[in-house]
Amino acid sequence: MVSENRCLYELAPLEIMLLLRGAMEVVTPKPTSIPLVGEAMGQVVRHPHADVLIDGNQIVEVGQNLDSSNSKVIDVSGKVIVPGFVDPHTHLVWSGSREHELEWKLEGRTYQEILADGGGILRTVGETRKASKEDLQSESLIRLKNAVRHGTTTIEIKSGYGLEKKTEIKQLEVANWLGTLGLAETVVTYMGAHAIPDDMDRYTYVASVSENLEELRKLAEFCDVFCEEGAFTEDESRTILEAARNAGFGLKIHADEFGDTGGGKLAAELRVISADHLAGSTLETIQALRDSGVIGVLLPGTPLAILSDHFAPARKMIANNFPIALATDCNPNCYTESMQLMQQLAVFRMGMTPAESLVASTINAALAIGKTDRGCIAEGWKANLLICDIPDYRHLTYHFGINHVETVIIGGKVIDA
Ligand code: NIG
Ligand code: FE
Repeated sequence: MVSENRCLYELAPLEIMLLLRGAMEVVTPKPTSIPLVGEAMGQVVRHPHADVLIDGNQIVEVGQNLDSSNSKVIDVSGKVIVPGFVDPHTHLVWSGSREHELEWKLEGRTYQEILADGGGILRTVGETRKASKEDLQSESLIRLKNAVRHGTTTIEIKSGYGLEKKTEIKQLEVANWLGTLGLAETVVTYMGAHAIPDDMDRYTYVASVSENLEELRKLAEFCDVFCEEGAFTEDESRTILEAARNAGFGLKIHADEFGDTGGGKLAAELRVISADHLAGSTLETIQALRDSGVIGVLLPGTPLAILSDHFAPARKMIANNFPIALATDCNPNCYTESMQLMQQLAVFRMGMTPAESLVASTINAALAIGKTDRGCIAEGWKANLLICDIPDYRHLTYHFGINHVETVIIGGKVIDA
């Protein structure tokens, strides 16, 4: 949904189309309804000197010298057009911040030690419980705008900093509210199983997460569980996810972040839509995930933020035809909204090619949140597009550390974030 006050170009009357004219190149993954794997992940389609014609919220045609009559024209000469990025894993809605933990991490304290001492997720839970809904809205809106300016057009947002029904609902409502603003499309996930709150025993808490599912389904499409040592066990995760499936949720798991501790195998067993992190997954787990039709969502910002060199084994995954996507994991531990940075980390730290990192940030990322008409530039696809001020799409990763996105188009409308 795009609200009218966010549009720079009003396309009245409705028959008038939008023509992006004269791009240096229009680059897209091959249109597909299933995720791209193996060699196909590394093969993008490059249309040199091309135009893109948009009717309403859909792409009508990509080609050279398209007819501009009846169209509002945007001159994109010298620019590169790619699909809008899809960020399929964020914890965007929280209050407060944790910059002091970066210094603790530099002193050698691990992520799990900080959490066990009441820091990490639990620190943010305290601040998010205290925040008014209005404060939570304004803090989260700043992050959403950052994400959009850096090219994210569809974003998944999880709860999980309430760990009690009232605050989880507040977070889910803010996530849904963000989606009504016309800045980006949002997909909302309930993640009550993010940590055990310090005011409840684990048995009672796991039961309460399961009990709330039916009611929270109207606020969230997916349910996610942090299955890891120090968080939820495999059995607890299975109990919650099976109850979530019965309540009508799509399923996701934070799995194998630090080692192959059962989360990846559980993801394969339950045939979830995506298993996320997977930095510690073994080859056997990767093959089981592939055979179960799961998409791997890799989060290279997380090892970066915990000062680790333990990035997900992307090359091994691609060699084994396991479909992978990229996401920011935007949260107070790994604080970035930039899908461009994720592509750069994928190339510089995980050995992915620029083409693979683009595919992993567009079509494969869209499919990891169940969206089938976003992430490619071709006839009939949703017109979510980025106009980038670069001469060749590979500059998205080659030229790192600055924002290349000049204009964001969602559903055929230019967004002013
Ligand atoms: O995906 N691993 C669990 N949850 C987040 C971190 C959240 C936090 O530290 O606040 C993640 O990395
Ligand atoms: Fe996460």
